[in-house]
Amino acid sequence: MRDFTVLGLETSCDETAAAVVRGCSPGPGTIVSNIVLSQLDEHAPYGGVVPEIAARAHVEALDGIVERAMAGIAWADLDAIAATAGPGLIGGVMVGLTTAKALALATAKPLIAVNHLEAHALTARLTDGAEFPFLLLLISGGHCQLLAVQGVGNFQLYGTTIDDAVGEAFDKTAKLIGLPYPGGPNVEAYATRGNPNRFALPRPMLGRDGANFSFSGLKTAVRQIVREGGYRELDAADLAASFQAAAIDSLVDRTRSAMRRFRAVFGDAKEFVVAGGVAANKAIGAALGELSEREGFAIKIPPPGLCTDNAAMVAWAGVERSQLGLFDGLDATPLARWPLHGAAAGGSQNAAAP
Ligand code: KG4
Ligand code: ZN
Repeated sequence: MRDFTVLGLETSCDETAAAVVRGCSPGPGTIVSNIVLSQLDEHAPYGGVVPEIAARAHVEALDGIVERAMAGIAWADLDAIAATAGPGLIGGVMVGLTTAKALALATAKPLIAVNHLEAHALTARLTDGAEFPFLLLLISGGHCQLLAVQGVGNFQLYGTTIDDAVGEAFDKTAKLIGLPYPGGPNVEAYATRGNPNRFALPRPMLGRDGANFSFSGLKTAVRQIVREGGYRELDAADLAASFQAAAIDSLVDRTRSAMRRFRAVFGDAKEFVVAGGVAANKAIGAALGELSEREGFAIKIPPPGLCTDNAAMVAWAGVERSQLGLFDGLDATPLARWPLHGAAAGGSQNAAAP
């Protein structure tokens, strides 16, 4: 199979990103360029992402980011132009997808409307050549899922959160204990200095059948400690460590259950991929690494900069879809919601649009 070269755009949340990736499945691929502009400073005063500010910042930054990603690369050498078409903040998704459509039209290249979650899911193929089928733990700001990944567009859901995503729990905990935005990395940094046994916090869903998650009870317990339990700012590191330990126990327990189900279905397959922004957390990675060893799985976690939102993962999803001829029309729809599993995931985005 020949190599494909794809330009990818990512604008679904608070990173404006463009990247060019070359390769063929199952990877690894080559990241030719990878430009990520974080909007951190714009959103920090509000303690979270403000959709209108994000969309405007994408409009202002995207052309320049694409120019930087394409520096030294001829448009004629591209096989396709890919952009995140959802799920995400709809204003931002529209900016990226519309820009990709304009570029595709101007350069007569095919368009690929990428599912952001599929881009996270396939990143371990870009970085490590992970082989199908693999078990996937997708942990980000909006999602917390365990899935069997059998191919591009072929996902079977084993478990999902029944309330909050784990990244959301990290972000809310950070706010409650007074750590600045973005919450996840700050909770991790404080946790390394804290005592994880200081505060007794619940481990939701522990030992239950299946592989569903729940994080809202944990968040509520943190809130109670902050509001009623004699918590002082000096305790921030201990509370961060106690929260992170509880989240880890829950992730490990649910993953163990999914590993056993995956093993029963797929026998010899033993790759376990962790993806999404929360996969950048070193303590979570270490705990899941120990679990994998115990359960006979080989763990693959992309480097932190490819776990959090980026466009190299979008370009790589474009490479894999190009190879399969899964292109989209210029009428591809931006989607705020777009689940990975089930009927809506299938082939090209046009088949999935409501
Ligand atoms: O994948 P991502 O960049 O954006 C989404 O698609 O949601 O994930 C962002 C989430 C945020 O909730 C952020 O706090 C969390 O990932 N995150 C972390 C870490 N780095 C990012 N959570 C825990 N520890 C980290 N080091
Ligand atoms: Zn993401």
